[in-house]
Amino acid sequence: MGRAFVYVILGGGVAAGYAALEFVKKGVSHGELCIISDEPVAPYERPALSKGFLLPEGPGNLMTRQSSNTTAHEAAASAARLPSFHTCVGANEERLTPKWYKEHGIELVLGTGVKSADVKRKTLLTATGETISYKILIVATGARALKLEEFGVSGSDAENVCYLRDIADANRLVNVMQSCPGGNAVVIGGGYVGMECAASLVIHKINVTMVFPEEHCMARLFTSKIASYYEEYYKSRGVNFIKGTVLSSFDFDSNGKVTSVNLRDGSTLSVDMVVVGIGIRPNTGLFEGQLTLEKGGIKVNGMLQSSNSSVYAIGDVAAFPVKAFGETRRLEHVDSARKSARHAVSAIMEPDKTGEFDYLPFFYSRVFTLSWQFYGDNVGEVVYYGDMSGSAFGAYWVSKGHLVGAFLEGGTKEEYEAIANATRLRPAIEDLSELERQGLRFAVTA
Ligand code: FDA
Ligand code: NAD
Repeated sequence: MGRAFVYVILGGGVAAGYAALEFVKKGVSHGELCIISDEPVAPYERPALSKGFLLPEGPGNLMTRQSSNTTAHEAAASAARLPSFHTCVGANEERLTPKWYKEHGIELVLGTGVKSADVKRKTLLTATGETISYKILIVATGARALKLEEFGVSGSDAENVCYLRDIADANRLVNVMQSCPGGNAVVIGGGYVGMECAASLVIHKINVTMVFPEEHCMARLFTSKIASYYEEYYKSRGVNFIKGTVLSSFDFDSNGKVTSVNLRDGSTLSVDMVVVGIGIRPNTGLFEGQLTLEKGGIKVNGMLQSSNSSVYAIGDVAAFPVKAFGETRRLEHVDSARKSARHAVSAIMEPDKTGEFDYLPFFYSRVFTLSWQFYGDNVGEVVYYGDMSGSAFGAYWVSKGHLVGAFLEGGTKEEYEAIANATRLRPAIEDLSELERQGLRFAVTA
């Protein structure tokens, strides 16, 4: 058995949802487009899973500050439950419910994994045994959470050990949190998932210890000075940090629940629950040996087109040329997923009108009453500005005489736009102390 479509999007996450909306805007005909996802629900705004979704339900429990940079839609996604956060509400666009896909003649094949792909024959084989063929394929398979087993520790299946990648994980995490009020949690990993989940655990009145191998949190992005601001804030909310070590094993009770966490430095922490956020691996497996891979993802050109001209890749799984850096990068953030999706569809539907993808990397996070944004690249010398003892401060990165990156905590919408614009312009910086003196004013007047 089999079906044939002109366009198939493989994966039903953020990038798939934004690609679907763009296809409709560009006039895709009924019956031409199919989305296949192993998740049981239509594409949703995944970032909500570590924010609004984890909040205790009910009004007045908003963890994120309703600041000027929080859109009405994101606010609506606080204490989020589907269908409120289907794509594309995160970018203030239409909310694509299953009904929307139906009305636009888009086939949504949910709860169905694709088991193999043949890019020469242009076919996909699903777990239900169906062969789906395409003329153009967009790979939007995202990534999976790395498991502790990949670092030689077993116990991921224990009922009180939680990961966070999809809505099933998030539901499980909420249930486990609710089962141990006043209890002890260990968070393994000091990246995005670790930091955002730790904040939610605190809000659920659970005692949190964060364990990670680096010297400070968010080591991929933050300098130690920036990290210290957030760590001090977390400490003021009762979070304990154990740095420079990793988990070596768990102890279990007779029901298989984890009762304590043993660290490589020899210490032991008794726990009621564990949250693990130790990074991701892009879902490229179906295409290994068929498409060129780079930086762990599917290598694409400025049109998001892979080494096979009928296959495009978008979102977390795509490694694309970042013009401003002059090199190929794979980004793991929602803005890149949304924009690469739109660009790929534009390149497919209107190739003559579409230039090369020119993307300025943008990352952000919101926890407790804190909120930061970062644009560009974190290489070169760092110039700090603002008041780190207050609520608004930031940093610039200067490399080879140009401003290449900018960070701001506690900014207004206009200030965030200013640091984005300044980074996009890559102005020459001759005097770092003058940049420091001007601080945020430099971006605002750039
Ligand atoms: P995404 O993971 O969204 O979707 C991939 C889809 O493909 C999934 O539905 C998956 O099930 C499906 N799939 C994979 N293999 C398949 C197969 N073989 N067959 C069928 N279906 C398959 N970013 C940010 O900038 N700010 C933020 O605040 C956050 N917050 C955040 C919180 C949490 C908890 C997570 C996990 C992630 C974030 N992110 C984020 C990152 C952001 O969500 C991420 O970059 C995007 O979701 C990437 O979109 P994709 O569509 O590429 O992958
Ligand atoms: P991450 O890459 O942000 O952080 C991984 C962390 O794992 C590292 O900081 C390190 O502390 C830790 N680590 C690595 N090896 C370890 C080991 N052996 N033992 C213990 N700790 C170890 O990944 P994540 O936090 O798991 O996030 C997963 C994905 O979700 C990322 O793609 C991230 O971009 C995305 N996400 C983004 C946001 C956001 O942008 N605000 C929020 C949540 C999730």
